[in-house]
Amino acid sequence: MSMRRALAHTVASTRSDWCTPQVVLDRVLQLYPGVFLDPATNIHSDVNAAHNFVRPGDSLPEEYLVAEMSRYRKWEMMDGLEISWADYIAAHGNAEVDSLVYVNPPYGRRENKVWAHKIREEARAGCHILALVPANTETNWFANYWQADALCFWGGRLHFKGGEHVADFASAIIYFGPHVCGFSQIFSHAGAVVTPNEYTG
Ligand SMILES: C[S@@+](CC[C@H](N)C(=O)[O-])C[C@H]1O[C@@H](n2cnc3c(N)ncnc32)[C@H](O)[C@@H]1O
Repeated sequence: MSMRRALAHTVASTRSDWCTPQVVLDRVLQLYPGVFLDPATNIHSDVNAAHNFVRPGDSLPEEYLVAEMSRYRKWEMMDGLEISWADYIAAHGNAEVDSLVYVNPPYGRRENKVWAHKIREEARAGCHILALVPANTETNWFANYWQADALCFWGGRLHFKGGEHVADFASAIIYFGPHVCGFSQIFSHAGAVVTPNEYTG
């Protein structure tokens, strides 16, 4: 039995814990060789970021941390909304390579708003960010994402890891970063890509 499975009871699979499905991660890893930081995660995630923030108070078993250290993966009890991702990357990253932040934040009325604001703020601070969020284009908080370099409105609904069924909402992948052509090529096979800031004159 895998360690994740053995520890399955330590994190309840509520909607806000649902993890990114492989079909999305496959495309993320076509655009970047790996994820540097996942600022909102749990031990069931397949994102495989080098650095992971787990909400203070959530379970992070010692034996899991030891096993993960041998895979050069770091886990920290850190509130992903409180800490500056840009500063964290400056302190821990390699300036020679692009450090990707991948975030699939907890979904909910309050969460959608605060995470959208945080994502936009960190993008302004220079982070490359791919975010998987509900495609609620009619909301005020979604307006933060119209500042992105590219968005992909996923065709069909995703089946999140941990979710019993296919989600009852649509999803969008938001990209803040310089590799817009690559994003468009890769994600246009999954949905409709929009580049709001592209020069069209
Ligand atoms: C939707 S899940 C995504 C997990 C993973 N990133 C993935 O996509 O596979 C969001 C996770 O973020 C964690 N979380 C919620 N608020 C957080 C915060 N302020 N800081 C760090 N983690 C948080 C929750 O415990 C939850 O497991």
